[in-house]
Amino acid sequence: MTAAHVETARPTTPGTELGTPATEVSTPGPAAPVRGKEHVVGRVADIPSGEGRAFVAGGVQVAVFRMRDGSLHATQAACPHAGGPLADGQTDVDVLVCPLHLYAYRWSDGASTSGAAPVRVYPVREQDGAFVVTV
Ligand code: FES
Repeated sequence: MTAAHVETARPTTPGTELGTPATEVSTPGPAAPVRGKEHVVGRVADIPSGEGRAFVAGGVQVAVFRMRDGSLHATQAACPHAGGPLADGQTDVDVLVCPLHLYAYRWSDGASTSGAAPVRVYPVREQDGAFVVTV
């Protein structure tokens, strides 16, 4: 196992370093397994409760959501239907709804409940106030 690549979505100020470097992991999943590296992408406080924001993790554009219950979700940033900005979508506990044409995608596996191609979901977790996305 090797140390993970660590990056930030925006410059940090001295004394506000993001958490301890994450470790490389393998994360199996039922729809589209993500077997990548963990990346410290930003601070949880960067995302208002109940909203999403777009970031880059390991060169991949991702949308990260901070749910009202404190949980985190991450998907690809562009909607597979027509490229809509998923970070601006509406959420509930089960699905993300794209703001452009209102196609819905399940958090659990990225499958569309509207008949579209699935969205890629990424494992995300909190570590010392930062969020860590595996891509
Ligand atoms: S671009 Fe997302 S539903 Fe059409």
